[in-house]
Amino acid sequence: MLQEKTIAIIKATVPVLEVHGEAITRRFYERLFEAHPELLNVFNINNQRQGRQQAALANAVYAAAVHIEKLDTIIPVVKQIGAKHRSLGVLPAHYPIVGEHLLGAMRDVLQENATDEIISAWAEAYGIIAQAFIDVEKELYEAAAEQPGGWEGLRSFRITRRIKESDVIDSFYLEPLDQKSIAAFQPGQYLTLQLKAPGVDYAQMRHYSLSDSPNKSYYRISVKREDERDTTPGGLISRYIHSLSVGDTVEVAAPAGEFIIPENTQPLTLLSGGVGMTPFMSYMNTAADQASERHIVWIHAALNGDVHAFAEESEQLAERLTHLTKRVVYERPTDRDERDKQFDAKGYITADVLREAGFHPEGLFFICGPEPFMRAMYHLLTKLGVKQENITFEFFGPASSIEAQ
Ligand code: HEM
Repeated sequence: MLQEKTIAIIKATVPVLEVHGEAITRRFYERLFEAHPELLNVFNINNQRQGRQQAALANAVYAAAVHIEKLDTIIPVVKQIGAKHRSLGVLPAHYPIVGEHLLGAMRDVLQENATDEIISAWAEAYGIIAQAFIDVEKELYEAAAEQPGGWEGLRSFRITRRIKESDVIDSFYLEPLDQKSIAAFQPGQYLTLQLKAPGVDYAQMRHYSLSDSPNKSYYRISVKREDERDTTPGGLISRYIHSLSVGDTVEVAAPAGEFIIPENTQPLTLLSGGVGMTPFMSYMNTAADQASERHIVWIHAALNGDVHAFAEESEQLAERLTHLTKRVVYERPTDRDERDKQFDAKGYITADVLREAGFHPEGLFFICGPEPFMRAMYHLLTKLGVKQENITFEFFGPASSIEAQ
């Protein structure tokens, strides 16, 4: 347990650290990767370059520190972050390294303001927070390894089928090289792949939603190719996956993730933009396998028919799911789309589109797609009186618009 004096120092310094958050975070990553370049294999270089999520780690340490006396209250958040850590292969031995460089960065940035007393208070607090994560992650590693077909760390999978779903999205069917069973998952969860793309100095971990129902002999992921104008490592890695063929192998961590639709009878509205439809494909395939009679409104937004993935599979799902209302909105349909009439509305998802589809404002809402899409949908729903606690969303990077999807 921390002494009262230590707690007082922590609480008094959190706001100071937050003010200097950006500088400390930047210095932290500089120090971390200088001393441990091998960790570049674990962290997402794209996020580093774009500054996205870069602050998440340090901010979470500060947020946890505020609750240092009652860490129990933040265990649900620790579990959520721990699930991501587990999929990335974060181990107990990594925690002292991160701690050393976070404290070192505080010293570098705050200079004489970071007194020995302050630093040792933070060292103690970090130790307690890190232990909470290590304990939660130990359970998650054990659970992943113990469930039937589960495994710890990475497992080799072979690509056994590859299907073109649109001009930019392909599905990859993955089966384990050891030919043993594979763990079940919940629709909405993702697989983490470790990929070593040519032109990128380090292996990179990337998460891809599972797009088919569980309990099959394979996993299916559906990956969007970021096109040539995108030279970020994110683009390089998606293009690398698109260069793989049937027979190639990839290293995969067991399914993880919290974007899970609860199994009950509440009406659902699913809003997807571009490749954001993948977790919903998994959910609807599962619902169809179970002959579910749940009321579902699914509205999908795409630029046009060329980049509209799973159009045929979606039609089949609409036939199998008797209570599914499916609508497709094309931002800028092509002449061919106009002729084939494969869309229900032109432009964006609006209140009228939602109303016409018969959405239930009191039901549950799940949104998945690029950030601007999710922001727009979130505002639209809250304006329509949907309660915030009924809206769940999953960010799908790195595109900054649904334009290219
Ligand atoms: C992601 C917190 C320790 C590696 C994250 C996220 C948070 C976080 C909040 C974002 C989660 C999300 O995107 O859903 C923490 C805290 C730590 C800690 C509070 C210490 C108490 C570590 C350690 C490692 C690590 C020891 C391993 C060296 C990562 C990686 C990501 C991540 C690789 C993914 C983000 C990216 O690649 O940019 N962490 N973390 N974390 N964490 Fe940690």
